[in-house]
Amino acid sequence: MAGLKVGVLISGRGSNLQALIDACAAADFPAEIVTVISNEPAAAGLGRARQAGLDARAIDHRDFADRGRFEAALTEALEAAGADFVCLAGFMRVLTDRFVRHWLGRAINIHPALLPSFPGTDSHARALTAGVKLHGCTVHYVWPEVDAGPIVGQAAVPVLTGDDEASLAARVLAAEHQLYPRCLRLIAEGRTRVVENRVEIDGVAPSGPLLIHPGPAGPES
Ligand code: GAR
Repeated sequence: MAGLKVGVLISGRGSNLQALIDACAAADFPAEIVTVISNEPAAAGLGRARQAGLDARAIDHRDFADRGRFEAALTEALEAAGADFVCLAGFMRVLTDRFVRHWLGRAINIHPALLPSFPGTDSHARALTAGVKLHGCTVHYVWPEVDAGPIVGQAAVPVLTGDDEASLAARVLAAEHQLYPRCLRLIAEGRTRVVENRVEIDGVAPSGPLLIHPGPAGPES
């Protein structure tokens, strides 16, 4: 199924991109990736995209005099590829209002924290320092303010005794890979509606048991 035509913006490893590629490979997935663009020419994610036979290119922000010109090139490439929607998947450049307004309601981002907690960088280290018991990830519409915008979905994971940044990041990343395709599917199916700063979703219940940490006495697992 073709459906929503998605351009994915990345800067690095591309594991969330891979989750989206894998999801789009399913016959009934209502979106397709029409291009993958990285601002970092060496991004491993570009290799993943090419491996999947996708259009993939680098647009190096350092080649442009300013942010506006760089973003104009991004929009031009996205639109030339036929993208009508944008997924930021580990895209590490702050976007200007102009770009955000152009794609308003048509761009989502994944952030490695339960927003509005821990926006910005180093979210896992800050979650550990804060001593939160639940951490996670958020898919949200892109709004002018960084790591803000109506929340489409969230996934929570426990913070375990002995966690360090790497172990916590790995647990959150596994959740990201489940959450991102799920949110994109809901949007592509037309089941989400932005009402002021909230996203209303039709006909979808939360999955799994209530996550309470600590749970009943006993060893952590
Ligand atoms: C992911 O954890 C994503 O949530 C984060 O960068 C990582 C990219 O990994 N994004 C941000 O921090 C954006 N504020 P990936 O390249 O393997 O998908």
